[in-house]
Amino acid sequence: MSAIDFSGQVAVVTGAGGALGAAFCRELARRGAAILANDLGGATTGEGTSQAYANAIVAEVNEQGGQAVANYDSVATAAGGQAIIDAALSAFGRVDIVISNAGNQRNGAFGSLSEEDIEAVYAVHAKGAFHVCQPAYREMARQGYGRIVLVSSQSGIFGNPFRANYGSAKTALIGLMNVIAQEAPEGVVVNTLFPNAQGGRLGGTPLEERPDIAFMKAAGARSRHFIEGMKPEFVAALACYMASLQCDRSQHMYSVLGGKYSRLFVGLTQGWYSPGADAPSAEDILAHIAEIDDRSRYDVPLSGLDEMDTVLAARKSLRLDQ
Ligand SMILES: NC(=O)c1ccc[n+]([C@@H]2O[C@H](COP(=O)([O-])OP(=O)(O)OC[C@H]3O[C@@H](n4cnc5c(N)ncnc54)[C@H](O)[C@@H]3O)[C@@H](O)[C@H]2O)c1
Repeated sequence: MSAIDFSGQVAVVTGAGGALGAAFCRELARRGAAILANDLGGATTGEGTSQAYANAIVAEVNEQGGQAVANYDSVATAAGGQAIIDAALSAFGRVDIVISNAGNQRNGAFGSLSEEDIEAVYAVHAKGAFHVCQPAYREMARQGYGRIVLVSSQSGIFGNPFRANYGSAKTALIGLMNVIAQEAPEGVVVNTLFPNAQGGRLGGTPLEERPDIAFMKAAGARSRHFIEGMKPEFVAALACYMASLQCDRSQHMYSVLGGKYSRLFVGLTQGWYSPGADAPSAEDILAHIAEIDDRSRYDVPLSGLDEMDTVLAARKSLRLDQ
């Protein structure tokens, strides 16, 4: 097995001053990457700014003998995203890795989220990924090498209450990954990470303030190593793999939770085929809903066209068109 080494490579980490961002920077730098550590600072709601967050991780990396430069632009604007990538280019001359990780949160019940709560969260999580990845992607496509890691959340793909803005913005990253991965030239790969960790200002909200407090408290009693598995270092190991030359997969989603590493995928049940050329009625759907729902047999289409291919192949093998 070849060692994962980032010597000569440049990594841009957004939200680098937070729990996960800092852990990513430490691990990438320890393995030789030069780091552009971006963090706007400020409150978890996205209000205010502070250079202290980026400065702290940059000082730490440099003290440990690594190479890091701070940047304080916001990922929430296209100009900010461009400035972040320009800062990496001007400091180190190239961009090999982007970990799109910056995050804010404005939680609230679906019925009471304001337009501003929605806009602010979409601007950082969904549009922020565009803003940073677009200029980086152009560099990566030109040089024929790049690793993009989009940091998503189970709050969207599985859902968590009171995070309609955050969960849906995070889920947008799955579509973004799918499309970039299918457009990207050879050598440029993009994957999505679903982390779970304590210690930060978002996921790291003190246990007693988390809505899942009872579960988390009970977790310690149910599993000795579950809580240790929530350390940011557990996420950093996966992020480092996903940022590496050795990660030759694209359009993959990986989750880490309590020491467990898994691949996530989107499946399509083999379903029910409406016979003949006439559209079925709603009652026909009702009559076949168990078959439509049945998850015991499913396909995993790799693209929209692949889904069509799956259906065409099944129609042929089931002789549905005869
Ligand atoms: N920790 C978890 O359990 C968990 C779970 C699922 C998803 N996530 C996601 O992982 C990422 C990191 O989470 P964390 O726990 O380290 O949170 P964190 O709050 O510790 O770090 C997020 C960092 O992003 C920075 N940031 C916010 N808005 C920014 C902007 N506009 N431009 C640049 N920087 C900005 C913040 O200043 C902060 O330092 C986030 O995207 C979060 O949504 C975390």
